[in-house]
Amino acid sequence: MTMIRDRWAEWLAVRRFGGDPETRRRFLAQLSARRDKVLDLAQLAESETLLDVGCGEGLIAFGALERGAANVIFSDISDDLLAFCREAASDLDVLDRCKFVKAPADKLNPVDDGSVDVVTTRSVLIYVADKRSAFAEFARVLRPGGRISLFEPINRFALGTADTWAGYDLAPLGEIAVKLRAIYEALQPRDSDPMLDFDERDLIRLAEEKGFSPIELYLDAEIKPVEPRTWEGFLNSSGNPNIPTVAEAVEQALTPDERELLARHLRPLVEQGRGEWRMASAHLVARKPDR
Ligand SMILES: C[S@@+](CC[C@H](N)C(=O)[O-])C[C@H]1O[C@@H](n2cnc3c(N)ncnc32)[C@H](O)[C@@H]1O
Repeated sequence: MTMIRDRWAEWLAVRRFGGDPETRRRFLAQLSARRDKVLDLAQLAESETLLDVGCGEGLIAFGALERGAANVIFSDISDDLLAFCREAASDLDVLDRCKFVKAPADKLNPVDDGSVDVVTTRSVLIYVADKRSAFAEFARVLRPGGRISLFEPINRFALGTADTWAGYDLAPLGEIAVKLRAIYEALQPRDSDPMLDFDERDLIRLAEEKGFSPIELYLDAEIKPVEPRTWEGFLNSSGNPNIPTVAEAVEQALTPDERELLARHLRPLVEQGRGEWRMASAHLVARKPDR
């Protein structure tokens, strides 16, 4: 029986890795480091309640339970991911310390005012159009003295030049590259998509506007050669849940002859790691003042 998952659950389970075990291993190792930093910065104490907004498969939330959080609220907009987390919590026998809440980050209505000690996100605000309302909600649900500890990619930093795509030089492909890029840019316009319309300064400003103080932000940025990948894994992966895999985009945008030319040029670059990885991300930690 084929399981049908919503796009968020399907991306987290399959499409972010493209079925490539090595990419999956690298990704998960990086994620555990991020989870640890989000929780370290939150300074979570054992008696506390943590709300993980956009919990996904529970990376941060289960980390908080492992660290002894008294209660963890898993919130997400995806029924499938909330069901996944509930089942995992049942398997771990920690259901009595968990609550599951379906709510978007900018309307956390089921969570009471001043009811949590820590709010976390990891790669969630990047999908939220109304980030200001999300910060307002974080301030509302936190008790005085509570903290936000957020990790968000700064995708704007990763935008390439007109000749590059996904970090690879497609200049020799001319019109083929233009057609391929157009598929992605139509879905996520550079000037207005929620994934691209902010950077680390906006995160600081939004926290400050909602009265958080003190605020600390740690920015990581890297520009380095891409890791070599399998061609199949590359074709079957997508950079986020809102866009097609490379194979899907290629199928949609290019004729069979153009696909052949693309593969001839791009495959060696992908397999040999001849591209540029540009990425930045921010950890933000901030406190809701006592009064
Ligand atoms: C990249 S995943 C990150 C999941 C998890 N935080 C982690 O660290 O693995 C993004 C998550 O945000 C959720 N999400 C997307 N839009 C959201 C919104 N507007 N409000 C709350 N959650 C949202 C998705 O369902 C998904 O679980």
